[in-house]
Amino acid sequence: MADTKIYQASTTAPVNIAVVKYWGKRDPKLNLPTNSSVSVTLSQSDLRTHTTAACSSSFPQSDTLLLNSENQDTSGARTQACFRELRFLRSSIEAADPFLPKLSALPLKIVSENNFPTAAGLASSAAGFAALVRAIANLYELPASPTELSRIARQGSGSACRSLFGGYVAWQMGTKTDGSDSLAVEVAPASHWPTMRALILVVSAEKKGVSSTSGMQITVATSELFQRRAEVVVPKHMAEMEEAIRNKDFEKFGQVTMKESNSFHAVCLDTFPPIFYLNDVSKAAIRVVEDINKKAGKTIAAYTFDAGPNAVIYYEEENIAVVAGVVKGALGHLDGWESRDISAQEAGDLDSRAV
Ligand code: ADP
Ligand code: DP6
Ligand code: CO
Repeated sequence: MADTKIYQASTTAPVNIAVVKYWGKRDPKLNLPTNSSVSVTLSQSDLRTHTTAACSSSFPQSDTLLLNSENQDTSGARTQACFRELRFLRSSIEAADPFLPKLSALPLKIVSENNFPTAAGLASSAAGFAALVRAIANLYELPASPTELSRIARQGSGSACRSLFGGYVAWQMGTKTDGSDSLAVEVAPASHWPTMRALILVVSAEKKGVSSTSGMQITVATSELFQRRAEVVVPKHMAEMEEAIRNKDFEKFGQVTMKESNSFHAVCLDTFPPIFYLNDVSKAAIRVVEDINKKAGKTIAAYTFDAGPNAVIYYEEENIAVVAGVVKGALGHLDGWESRDISAQEAGDLDSRAV
């Protein structure tokens, strides 16, 4: 009798917020970046994607993806690349063991929920593709390491490769044309610098006007500032950031984080036509952080913005009263404004079934 059993596995993945930003692809097909980047993975008890992957011969023939209860197109090259790579790994273990069910040949049904705004500059594509890849890897019982899964998740969304690790994570741009060395690596576990906190200011939960994918494409094609950023500014920031993390030097960490965010948004402004991700509330948040640091006489808070108006403010636990208090006091009266305090994600609490 035909096997109509439904096989399924679930996982969760956290978001990560870059402190050295990825912006620009040297190979859009393989999602290979023009520069390396570094991020902090935030606790998935706060912001996370939950994804279930299932497969069965009883499902309709084509693969499906339901995101926040809405059907998504799975025919796009990025999602297809993830499915293809994972099916290939599954078919290799099926070829070696004739008793394994041939899951690689079955249609996939993916159901995913984000518990935070999607496509609003809070890294939904990062948590989303990290969860999608690991859910299928769990379903297929692949003996793949987080590094191997990061190489696959990168092809779904570049920033997703960093969400397979906890703590402080670098995405090494790599030099090979096949992308085999464009991977995420751990810079330090969350426990290395456990006092790090992030305050998320949700200024707008609306979908951004220009997606990260198309925004960076237009930047690469039109911005002259971009080349200098990729060749000079980012390599310097990468070295400074990795050293700041190693030494738990918040002043340095904070200054590079803010300069990076500014450099990235400057390049967006230099894109033609210009891309504006920051709004007036974002700019007010920058001023509030400047005031906090001025009063403290040193950098105790650092803002950063991805491709959207929502602010992430990094600070150390001991300064929670000053930072969270002043930010909420200054901006809390604004409509539609929400904030959450978050710590970095411990690797030990990440789903490791696929290791
Ligand atoms: P963000 O700043 O939120 O990362 P992007 O423009 O980079 O915004 O990407 C948003 C896109 O990522 C969504 O339109 C969707 O295609 C994809 N995405 C978001 N969440 C998920 C998810 N949970 N599973 C699969 N894909 C997702
Ligand atoms: C500003 O990873 O969302 O958040 O690879 O096209 O899916 P695609 O882009 P995405 O870009 C993220 C850009 C950023 C900076 C960062 O996360 O490093
Ligand atoms: Co994204």
